[in-house]
Amino acid sequence: MSPFSKPTTEPDEVRVRLYRFDPAVDRAPRYETYKVPHTPRMRIMDVLDYVHENMAVDFGYRWLCGSKKCGTCAVNVNGSPKLACWEEAELEMTIEPLSNMQVIRDLVTSRDAFEALLGRLSPMLVRKVEYPGFPEPLTAIQLAPTAHLRDCIQCLACQSVCPVLKQPDSGFAGPALLVALSELAQDPRDGGERGRLAGEVAQVFKCVSCYECERVCPVEIPIVGEAIEPLKRLVYQAGAGAGARHARAFLDVVKARGYLNAAVLALKTKGITLNALRLALRMVPRGKIELGKALLKRPAPGAKVIGKTYESSEDGK
Ligand code: SF4
Ligand code: SF4
Ligand code: FES
Repeated sequence: MSPFSKPTTEPDEVRVRLYRFDPAVDRAPRYETYKVPHTPRMRIMDVLDYVHENMAVDFGYRWLCGSKKCGTCAVNVNGSPKLACWEEAELEMTIEPLSNMQVIRDLVTSRDAFEALLGRLSPMLVRKVEYPGFPEPLTAIQLAPTAHLRDCIQCLACQSVCPVLKQPDSGFAGPALLVALSELAQDPRDGGERGRLAGEVAQVFKCVSCYECERVCPVEIPIVGEAIEPLKRLVYQAGAGAGARHARAFLDVVKARGYLNAAVLALKTKGITLNALRLALRMVPRGKIELGKALLKRPAPGAKVIGKTYESSEDGK
């Protein structure tokens, strides 16, 4: 069949399994299956609307703009976050609320934790230099580093897949908040303490650079390269928090020895405390520390070359 020829038959229906849960009355979540008549170019949102209008009037879901602008309609479809107003309906779908978030009812999740932490990151320009009046002179080059970050619609799809946020009480802000913070941190008009906020409040060094957030971002923001890495650099330069100490110690150890000595790294990061010594001793039987190397402190052959490579990359040469 030519790629341009029309399909001879349109599918009749979409079979959708919907997550249903009202924490106020239900003991546990359940799934309900509905069959919805298929229409050409049907979006996921059309399926949800049909179920709500014709089959389950009490079914809870959320949307506002209907055109990929507000970010409120993101849901999990067959295990992956999608904007319901924008993505085409599949013929078989299981639709669930975004992960890593508290469910209010059915597909509606709470944004309270996100908004509360956003408030702690001082989410507005902090002007150290007086506003010069309109129009404020700004060049495209000055705004280029934040061009993609300004596309964020705060749909929280990225937060829902972040493996660090799946850990209870991780303390990590998550990718969507880091995008918001990085946009301000890289704005030439801003004079806020972004390095301190990124290190101590957002705990940016907890990001493990797995790129899951980028994979699902509906507006294709290079979250790791353009939001998270610049923030890590800022924290590192400001020396803010344990993450920055760890990164500095990591570089110092490799630069001096040509290899990573985990015992020295732990001591340099945490200082010489009882806990740090215990941690170092626990690493010996697991083979993470070679006592000979740790105690004799012999640099690896070629360590000088490695040290020079680090120095030139730090200088940006
Ligand atoms: S970075 Fe992308 S996935 Fe994350 S909130 Fe913004 S638009 Fe959504
Ligand atoms: S790259 Fe970092 S922020 Fe993004 S999902 Fe992985 S750990 Fe989370
Ligand atoms: S309803 Fe606004 S992005 Fe989908």
